[in-house]
Amino acid sequence: MSPFLLTRTLPEDATEAALRADVLQGLTATRKTLPPKWFYDAHGSELFERITELPEYYPTRAEREILVDRSGEIAAATGARTLIELGSGSSEKTRHLLDALAGLHTYVPVDVSESALTLAGQALVAERAGLNVHALIADFTAALTLPGTPGPRLVAFLGGTIGNLLPGERAAFLASVRALLTPGDALLLGTDLVKDEEVLVAAYDDAAGVTAAFNKNVLSVVNRELGADFRADAFEHVALWDAGHEWIEMRLRSRAAQTVKVPALDLAVDFAAGEELRTEVSAKFRKEGVRAELAAAGLDLAHWWTDAAGRFALSLSVAR
Ligand code: SAH
Ligand code: AVI
Repeated sequence: MSPFLLTRTLPEDATEAALRADVLQGLTATRKTLPPKWFYDAHGSELFERITELPEYYPTRAEREILVDRSGEIAAATGARTLIELGSGSSEKTRHLLDALAGLHTYVPVDVSESALTLAGQALVAERAGLNVHALIADFTAALTLPGTPGPRLVAFLGGTIGNLLPGERAAFLASVRALLTPGDALLLGTDLVKDEEVLVAAYDDAAGVTAAFNKNVLSVVNRELGADFRADAFEHVALWDAGHEWIEMRLRSRAAQTVKVPALDLAVDFAAGEELRTEVSAKFRKEGVRAELAAAGLDLAHWWTDAAGRFALSLSVAR
C-alpha cells in the first residue's frame, strides 16, 4: 500500500479555543451568527454526503459532470505533480482528477474534518498504488504550511465551498491561495452559478429534511464541545435567497422566546420568538465576478467550463 500521512496542523486545544471565540462573538452579536466550518464533525460530514445525493441538491452532480468531461484537459494544462485540495471532504469527485493526472507525486487533502480525511485517505491509498497521500487537518482560512513536494502545484477548491465565505473572507482566502503558488501554478475552482430562486431554495430546503438536520448539527457540536443546552426542536430550519447579495442564507429560527446556556463560556444567550441565527451563506456566482475576484488575487482565468445545463462552473486560473 502507498503511504498515507495525516498531519494535524493545529493542536486540538487551539480548535476548541477557535470554537469558543466564534461562539462567544457570534452569539453575543446583535445579529447572531455561527461560522459554517463548525457543521463538520463526523456526523455533519456524513450528513453533507447525504445532501450530495439528494434530488434537489444539483451542485455535486453538476460539478462531477464537468470533472468527468474536463479532467484530461485540466491534467494537460497543469501537468500537476502536487494536487492540494482544500475542503476535500470525501474526495469522491477528485477521483476523476487523480485518474487524469498521470505524473502526480502527492495528493494533499486539507480539511477540518478528521473523520472525512481519514476515510477518504485510507480508501485512496488502498486503491492507488504509488500515490502518496499527505492529509492535513487544517483550517483553509488560516495560513497553511504545505509539505515540500514537487511542483507544478494545482490547488483544487471544489463543491462551491468558496461561496460559504463572505466577500471579504473570499478576497483574503484567494490571496492566501495565490501565496501558496509560484507563477504558472494553477487553481481549479468550483463555483455554483446564479439561477432561479425556486431551484436554489429547494437545494437548501429538501423535502427529506436532510439539510435541516445538517443545519441543526451545529447546535449539537456546540452542546457537545461547550456544554450548551440548545434543543434542536426549539429551532426551525430556514433557507432563503438574498437577491441583493446573490447568496442563499441558512438560518435557525427560534420557535419561542428562550435562553440557551453555554457553560464553557459562562454565557446565557436570550433568543426572542422568531429571532434568527445565521449559520451559512452560500454565494452564487457569475463568470465576470469570478474573473475579477481571481484577478484581484493575482490569478488569471484561463478556462471556464460549465455543466450542460449551465448550473455550475469550474474555472482554471493561473498564478501570475
Ligand atoms: N469538496 C467536497 C466537500 C465539500 S463540503 C465536495 O465538493 O463535495 C465542505 C468541506 O469543507 C467539508 O469537508 C468541511 O469539513 C470542509 N471545511 C469547511 N470549512 C473549512 C475550513 N475553514 N477549513 C478546512 N476545511 C473546511
Ligand atoms: C459545502 N458547501 C458548498 C455547501 C453549499 O452548498 O453551500 C454546504 C451546504 N449547505 C447546505 N447544503 C449544503
